Amino acid sequence: MSTPQTSIAPNAPALAAQVAPPSASLMSRPEFVWGVATASYQIEGAIAEDGRLPSIWDTFSATPGKVLHGDTGDGACDHYHRWSEDVDLIESLGVDAYRLSIAWPRVMHADGTPNRKGLDFYKKLLQRLADKGIQSFVTLYHWDLPQHLEDRGGWLNRDTAYRFAEYADLVSRELKGLVTGWATLNEPWCSAYLGYGNGHHAPGLSNGRYATQALHHLLLAHGLALPLLQANDPTAKRGIVANVGRGTTDSSKEADITAARRYEVQHNDWILQPLLKGSYPEELFKLWPGTEPLVLDGDMEIISRPLDFLGINYYFRCNLHSDGGTGFVDVPLEGVERTQMGWEVYPQGLEDLLRRFKDQYDRLPPIYITENGMASSDEVINGEVVDEQRMRFMKSHFAAVSRAMDAGVDVRGYFAWSLMDNFEWAFGYERRFGITHVDYQTQVRTLKHSGQAFKAFLALRRGS
Ligand code: NOJ
Repeated sequence: MSTPQTSIAPNAPALAAQVAPPSASLMSRPEFVWGVATASYQIEGAIAEDGRLPSIWDTFSATPGKVLHGDTGDGACDHYHRWSEDVDLIESLGVDAYRLSIAWPRVMHADGTPNRKGLDFYKKLLQRLADKGIQSFVTLYHWDLPQHLEDRGGWLNRDTAYRFAEYADLVSRELKGLVTGWATLNEPWCSAYLGYGNGHHAPGLSNGRYATQALHHLLLAHGLALPLLQANDPTAKRGIVANVGRGTTDSSKEADITAARRYEVQHNDWILQPLLKGSYPEELFKLWPGTEPLVLDGDMEIISRPLDFLGINYYFRCNLHSDGGTGFVDVPLEGVERTQMGWEVYPQGLEDLLRRFKDQYDRLPPIYITENGMASSDEVINGEVVDEQRMRFMKSHFAAVSRAMDAGVDVRGYFAWSLMDNFEWAFGYERRFGITHVDYQTQVRTLKHSGQAFKAFLALRRGS
């Protein structure tokens, strides 16, 4: 049995101060939602239990050379068996909400009929969270597509969007009343670009035209699901989660300034513009000539259906130069702070993007920061994990969100990525994003100093 080690350090107020945003911040209001986030494939393990079908990530991670050290999600954090203790851990943090995802291959048989055992797992998990007064933000698709659908073309096949709608219909009928916010997709940019454009993620295909077509079908899936979620679970909020990236340049050359702008078009507007304006950015197809997806009549109206919230995942900034043609290259800045991923720590980018989206999109819905965090090579030493960089990271990003809110951006919540160390996709288990350390040999969870600071901060905010 794993033992969540969650006792608060004696110096709790000092710890809280390590992450606390400015005291006058709108983020200290009681209605601001503080949470932690995970995703099914990254934590659950038990990949062949209770009728779970193979997913594209099972296939991909079992393929030599695709994931660092040959790691797979087979065991992960064993959350499928340890969910009850993990809920205790979540409760002990004092968060308002938990963001999780449902594994499509766990809850539906290949013929589209429900897998009761898989559904029961999520039902008891969500019920337990509800019993403890913790809100659930549930993502329907965090990248674990059933392999049998990939075998029929995956997101390149328009039919997958309709299969997703059936899945969303089933799950929202079964789990209605237990969910505060449904997010259809997590980071469709990654599913499309990393999955079908450069092949760094499952299913590992690399073709620019595939990426735009896959993205179109993902967004269509999202739009088809929205009215079903509304009909089945009318009190829940409905949204989508997008990763966003800040692109700047240290050059004053016109071509480099254009390159930085195109980076943001490719990372942000490619996703947000169809959702919020019902069109793809023309500049995208200057960057990737000849990759326009096949769009059928009515698709853009479906894709741009109104949202109750937009989830934003933010991690870093890139420094861009022109590649000499219509594209860009990332030229890493020297002398800046970086994380274990090599990503620059740049909280200002989060404020900049939030403010920019507010100016750019009239129909921008309320925002939740559904992911933000960093990886570090944390170790347990004498029972403690001193992750000082993560505390500074959290504090500076909380402050950035706070400034954006002061400037009028409607941000409703913040979820730390992640509740615990987990399977970091192509980087396997080496990259540790958790505020809780996981020993993968013993499955013991140890709250890192950042987790203790977050917990102390949340307790002070509640006045307890
Ligand atoms: C985005 C993804 O949603 C999540 O699964 C991943 O672990 C984090 N970013 C960190 O890369």
